[in-house]
Amino acid sequence: MLPVARKPIVQYVLEELLANGVEQILLITGRSKTAIENHFDTDPELLRTLNSRKMTHLASQTDFEHLKAHIFYTRQHQQKGLGDAVLCGESFAGEQPVVVALGDSILGLHAKSSCVSRMIQLFESRRASCVVAVEEVPPEETRNYGVIRAREGKDGCLNVLDLIEKPRPEEAPSNLAIAGRYVFSPLIFDMLRRVQADSKGEIQLTDAIRFLCEEGKRVLAVKLPPSEKRYDIGNFASYYATFVEFALADPDYGKELRDYLQTLLNTP
Ligand code: G1P
Repeated sequence: MLPVARKPIVQYVLEELLANGVEQILLITGRSKTAIENHFDTDPELLRTLNSRKMTHLASQTDFEHLKAHIFYTRQHQQKGLGDAVLCGESFAGEQPVVVALGDSILGLHAKSSCVSRMIQLFESRRASCVVAVEEVPPEETRNYGVIRAREGKDGCLNVLDLIEKPRPEEAPSNLAIAGRYVFSPLIFDMLRRVQADSKGEIQLTDAIRFLCEEGKRVLAVKLPPSEKRYDIGNFASYYATFVEFALADPDYGKELRDYLQTLLNTP
């Protein structure tokens, strides 16, 4: 629920998915995250107040009823890692492919990215078992991400041969980091059940994808173009930077903020 400029991050992720044609959305939350459900619910009192104060433009922004989304919720009961969270979506997915979007990443300024659509197209046309989005990161940052080993493939994508979760720079097979968006066949759930928890007790999604590679399944990667770069909200430095960049691009308040920042920066 952390806001970036005008909206909580989860709303950007939801809007990105909708714009990419994903309308059935399961939010995997936890016991301390009821604010997410409240946010996407109708708030008649707030709507009444905004409308009575002639703030209809704000009222429309808090009305999620008009979105095409069918939102469902489930909880991860223990903090057992990303892989365990994804397993919570197994019965929701059933026999269908699923997109997984991590809530600590926004793709593109104001979430304007069609990467997920391209990933879905590729998943279907190449009959893949998994497609991941990747981005180039400086070598010293590989320790924060899942990193792929890949070779150039057809259709501008990469064939993933192996993956390692958070390698030290000297062990990283490349500087291509998994960027928080995945498309999976339901096979991923079988792989996840085979993954052993790591030293922190976490089931890593990366390890399950690795099993797909080992089984000879087709795992592809798509590089994010600079215009759809990933905004990482998972640490203070990049959260601050993201907030400022989004606020500077705000059509109503961006200019004012720019002038203010310029004054601040020019003050010794
Ligand atoms: C998770 C994944 C990692 C991926 C990253 C992207 O890590 O495990 O493979 O590169 O998200 O944000 P986390 O950020 O949860 O530590």
